[in-house]
Formats: sequence, C-alpha cells, structure tokens
Amino acid sequence: MTKLDVQSASQATGASSAASKQPEAKEIKLWGGRFQESVTDAVERFTESISYDKDLYKHDIRGSRAHASMLAKQGLMSISDRDSILAGLDEIERRIQNGEFVWRADREDVHMNIEAALTDLIGEPAKKLHTARSRNDQVATDFRLWCRDAIDSIVERIKDFQVAMVDLAVKNAGIIVPGYTHLQRAQPVLLQHLLLAFVEQLDRDAGRLLDCRARLNFCPLGACALAGTGLPIDRFMTSSALEFSSPLRNSIDAVSDRDFAIEFLSANSVMAIHLSRLGEEWVLWCSEEFGFITPNDAVSTGSSIMPQKKNPDPMELVRGKSARVIGDVVTLLTLCKGLPLAYNRDLQEDKEPVFDSVKTVLGMLEVSTEFARNISFNQDRIKKALPAGHLDATTLADYLVHKGMPFRTSHDIVGKSVAMCLGKNCQLKDLSIDELRTLSPIFDDDVYEFLGVENAVNKFSSYGSTGSECVASQLQYWMEKLGLI
Ligand code: ARG
Repeated sequence: MTKLDVQSASQATGASSAASKQPEAKEIKLWGGRFQESVTDAVERFTESISYDKDLYKHDIRGSRAHASMLAKQGLMSISDRDSILAGLDEIERRIQNGEFVWRADREDVHMNIEAALTDLIGEPAKKLHTARSRNDQVATDFRLWCRDAIDSIVERIKDFQVAMVDLAVKNAGIIVPGYTHLQRAQPVLLQHLLLAFVEQLDRDAGRLLDCRARLNFCPLGACALAGTGLPIDRFMTSSALEFSSPLRNSIDAVSDRDFAIEFLSANSVMAIHLSRLGEEWVLWCSEEFGFITPNDAVSTGSSIMPQKKNPDPMELVRGKSARVIGDVVTLLTLCKGLPLAYNRDLQEDKEPVFDSVKTVLGMLEVSTEFARNISFNQDRIKKALPAGHLDATTLADYLVHKGMPFRTSHDIVGKSVAMCLGKNCQLKDLSIDELRTLSPIFDDDVYEFLGVENAVNKFSSYGSTGSECVASQLQYWMEKLGLI
C-alpha cells in the first residue's frame, strides 16, 4: 500500500456503508459446521469490525497472495489453485478500489469478507487459502503492514514540515526576537534559531517512528491461532515476500502482542505535543498583545459575530487535536493491560485508535506546514518589543566574567545595574560609563560592544547557541540534510 492509500482507504471503500448493503438472509459463517443458529442482530452489530477494518484490505490481500504462493511452493496447494486464488484476489482488489465490492456486516471483518467473496468468485480453490493460517496471525500481519506504511507516510510529512520551517528561517534571516523562560523576557535570540528548534524536535519524532518501524517489522504469519502448525509451511518465505525482516520467533507472542501499535502511538503522541507547543507559540504570536505574526487569509478564519476578527484556528486545532492523539495511546494501553495470552477478541479494538491517531497526526503535520508557508513576521512590531525586559543583562554579566570577575559577583552587579535602569526608566546601554563604574571599577568603554540586543545576540558563541555563526551552521546542516542545497 502506498502512503496515499493509507489515508484514502476509508474514502475509497465508503467507510459507513458496511452494514447498509446487507442481503436479507444471513449466511452460515465460515465456521458454520458447529453452529445451528446465526447470531442475533445485536451481537452481530456489536462484534463486527468491517465498518472500520476494511481499511486493511490492501494489506490483507497482499498477505493472502504471499500465503497462497507459499502454500503452493510447499506442496500444500496446487499451482492451478494458487493461480485461481491470485486472479480472484486481483479481481476483488479491483472491485474494492472501484467501489463495486459489497462489504457485509454478517461476514464480520475484512478477513472473512475477502475470503468469502473469493469463495463466491472462484469456488473450491478458495477453501485452501486458510490452510495453516488463522485470523489471529492474519490480522496481526495486516496490522503490522498497515502501521509500517502509515509510519512511512508520517515520516514523509515530517520532512515536508521541516522543509517549510527551514524555508521560513531562510526568508527571515537576521530577525532578533525576545527569547522567553517562564514566559518572561529572557535573552535575545535569532528567529531562525527558534524555528530550527522545532525542526530538531520533529526530527527526533521521525527517528522514534523509524525505530518503531524497525522493531515492528517482523512477520506473525504462520503463527496460526497461537501454537503454529504441523503442516510444512515456510514462514521465512512469506516473511520476505512481505518485506519483513524475519518471522517472529514465538507464535504466542506473534498473535497476542500489540506493543508495536502502542509504541507507534506513543511516538505519535510525542510528536503531537511538539506540534501542539508550536500551535500555542504561534497562537500567542498572532495575538494583539504579541503581534509578531500575521497569518495569510488562506490559513485564518473569521468570527461569526465579531467582524473584525481574524483567528489562527488551524494552529489552535493543532493544539487541540493533540488531545485525541494522547487519548488514542491511552486507549491502547488500557486495552492491553489485563489481557491473558494469547489472542483475545478485545484486540479487535486496537484498530480505531491507531487509525484515528494516524489520520490526526497527518492532518496536524499538513496544516502546520501550510501555516508555516503562509505567515509573515512583523519586523517593526518585533523590533519595538525588543528593548523591554533587559534582554542583554546576562551578556553584560558575561562581560564582567571576561574581565575576571566571578559570575556570582557579576550577577549581583548587573542586578544592581538593572535596578538603576528601572529607577531611570532606561536601557542598560543608556547607562553612562560613570554610572556603571559606581557599581564596579571593572567596567570599561568596551562594555558598549556587549549592550543592546544586536550586540548581545552576537556575543553568543558556544556550540548550539543563538550566535549568528552558530545558527548559520545549523541552517547549513538542515539545508544539506533535507536536500535543499
Ligand atoms: N476481527 C478480528 C480482530 O480484529 C480478527 C481476528 C479474530 N479472531 C478470532 N479468533 N475471532 O482482531
């Protein structure tokens, strides 16, 4: 499945039509032999998963292709049966993609819908497909394949976001903004430095997702219900056909654990928090109080009552939607916490939180990228905001350290200098050398090279700091890494 398919599968398959197109009479289930009655309507409605797990159809068909080919190679099915199955699966896939396939709630889930449709289509040979396979290993296989594709899609969107942030940084070279701690004015920083902080954070998010991908990329197929099989299957063959690293070593583990999904949604949650914090930052910056950012109309919405309003709703919703991403991982953790080995039907509840989390983070990334591409920074407003808060105070303390004063003493002297400014309602750079010398004889004329935000920002030189050379090399690093130069 391609990345787009992950997102569009539910549209292509018509997410809500599953139960609506049911035939009148219920058919006997695939396990019909032992049963004399079909389930009640309430039980059917309650236990079906086709309304959402049809999103797995591509992966289910892919798994069945690999399984049928392996069965034929191992002599468990004839070549002609395999060929009928493969042709039948192609036709079913075509029908699903064209919206011609009828999903039936009485066939419970995606696995049984496809297998039963295959039987309707090709008859007898289809009955061999479930040899040495159970829905337990089948669903675990499908789900891992789905998560693998979803991770690839998310990682690609992360890169788009990073490119947008780097472009924004390039466009806004040289702008100094107040840096905050405790949301109080702290030190001057380059806007580029701040934007690149998010690029770093999202890069670790991509790293977490790729670690998770590597750990989930093992194949459950052939674990069967829980114990494996006595039939001569080749699990290594199906595993490599499905591009897994190898089969899972333990069949019980293979069908029972969903740690890969939990890990995936944990990584999504960390990323959602990063994007939520960006949302918060930009919502603040769009406010009248800050006024640092003006979003284009294309990424703003108005108010139905207040004609003057222009709201940064997309970023508010990025912040808001992080809540459901966190909720999704909590759902999965809670789902799994009390389960005995091996497979339990509870595990059917694993899919919706994963689908929801993936859909949500893809949207959050997309919208954050668009927002980054549609804002401008108000240089005048930012410049006017810079003098307040004595952002150069720490640089002044460093100046005294350069001159040999212990830091604690310099901290105290600069504190007194700031108090002097407060008394006179002026900036540190406005204090005369004589005034400064009343606080310490160490002050010299060269102190003015350290005062004022432009000077202060350029005194930063440690690795990773906001000094312009350091930021230029960070920017260079990202431009190369993202293939922008
Ligand atoms: N729809 C089920 C799920 O998603 C498939 C596995 C059902 N297995 C079973 N033995 N009932 O988990």
